[in-house]
Amino acid sequence: GFVVALQASGKEFVVPEGKSILEVLREQGLDVDFSCEQGICGACRVTVLEGEPDHRDMVLSEREKAQNDAIMVCCSGSKSPRLVLAL
Ligand code: FES
Repeated sequence: GFVVALQASGKEFVVPEGKSILEVLREQGLDVDFSCEQGICGACRVTVLEGEPDHRDMVLSEREKAQNDAIMVCCSGSKSPRLVLAL
């Protein structure tokens, strides 16, 4: 697992193994856009401010993935212990 921190509220949540960031955010009552939940549509894109996402989507190009400034929260995880999101 890893921690996601939200810039606006300063809240932090643990994303356990086997759960998506999207699931955790929705459980916490956050209204995050999503559609396919399979890493295809791009609806759940969120800006990353800190940390290194573990990209598992098919939306971002290799170059965009290497920039570490966006994540599809329905399917991607984190290589770093903490991700700070612009939410
Ligand atoms: Fe479609 Fe995440 S909901 S890429």
